[in-house]
Amino acid sequence: MNFKDSISYAEKEDQEDQLSHFRQKFFYPKDSLDKKIIYFCGNSLGLQPKSVPELIKNELELWGEKGVLGQHIRWVDFHERLAKPSANIVGAKPSEVVIMNALTVNIHLLLVSFYHPQKKRFKVIIEKDAFPSDQYAIESQISFHGYNKEEALVEIAPRDGRKVLDEKDILDAIELHGDSIALIYLGGVNYYTGQVFDMESITSFGKKHGATIGFNLAHCAGNIELELHDWGVDFASWCTYKYLCAGPGSPAGVFIHEDHHDWKGPRFAGWWGHDKNTRFKMPAEFSPIKTAEGWQISNAPIMGMIPLMASLELYEKAGMENIRNKGIKLTGYLEFLIKIDLPEVSIITPNNKGSQLSISIKKGRQVFDRLIEEGLICDWREPDVIRLAPHPLFNTFQEVFNTVKLIRDVLNE
Ligand SMILES: Cc1ncc(COP(=O)(O)O)c(C=O)c1O
Repeated sequence: MNFKDSISYAEKEDQEDQLSHFRQKFFYPKDSLDKKIIYFCGNSLGLQPKSVPELIKNELELWGEKGVLGQHIRWVDFHERLAKPSANIVGAKPSEVVIMNALTVNIHLLLVSFYHPQKKRFKVIIEKDAFPSDQYAIESQISFHGYNKEEALVEIAPRDGRKVLDEKDILDAIELHGDSIALIYLGGVNYYTGQVFDMESITSFGKKHGATIGFNLAHCAGNIELELHDWGVDFASWCTYKYLCAGPGSPAGVFIHEDHHDWKGPRFAGWWGHDKNTRFKMPAEFSPIKTAEGWQISNAPIMGMIPLMASLELYEKAGMENIRNKGIKLTGYLEFLIKIDLPEVSIITPNNKGSQLSISIKKGRQVFDRLIEEGLICDWREPDVIRLAPHPLFNTFQEVFNTVKLIRDVLNE
């Protein structure tokens, strides 16, 4: 791309940006002095769509006016409205997607079904330094099944002196551990480095070796394009509060490939996973819905789902392909400017990335604190990483330009 290090170039890109009008659909943070904020934290908590308060008010009114009748009118199947737009984001059939619970809770529920170690196949391949919640979930599942992590956990670490994984090392580990692998479980985008894994190749290679494949898509959903169904991924889950802008603690997404919908293996059951035709006849025997919904346990948190409904509407209008293309351009522009203007900053994120750059700077914490004071909302990860995540739906090329100038000024202090 022919990027240029000038504000007039950034202005021109913003003028030509087909998605620029989406910024107006979000509440954009201001600080108390009405100073300009640059919000580069879409990888942590996306901004609030402006339609959310009205939509929540409508639901509260329905509850106020109709009480439990609201359940019959609208809430009993409310979550179904979220399946199709969510499926469009992860490349799935609507029947393969359900919105429920929180991410780590879902990971545990999915592991109940998809990690049942046998005498021969019992190992789990994960990234070393995966997000801690993944690490805890996997290790606790391993010990729940009576194994210890020394025998059952295969962690793939970056090679000496590197920050990011060499994907070949994942494939080599799959080959090496072969038919002792029960499960390969990876973050599709590494939360710390922003590295995007080739999920299609890993899935097909893992399947050739008879393993089950699951992904944590926390940093993928709404960020990069996914084709979970076609890739043959067995299961996945993602939170919706990051790029998907559904608010703090919003309910998470689950994907279960349709090959597993007639599931006879283990699962933790609840009435919301029971056949809808007989659910309210209250039968004693559990008869699961033969879609991803069969993994639901409890009835849906309607108020928590409203912001997701609002943001999915924006995603539907913008289109995932356009969002991804703008993300590539915005992040590419950020990288271009950092390389030119900030030679003392190292970029950890490799070429295969989404809308996130992880950078490392000497005295990083001091720099980070100053950036926050100056109104750049980004985040800090120990020991020395600042994550910058421009969001295609609400950030601009001018903000990218101004961010790099601000970092330059702070480094010059
Ligand atoms: C990669 C990853 N996994 C798991 C989690 C934990 O999510 P939750 O608290 O929604 O379970 C997060 C949260 O940021 C995450 O980024």
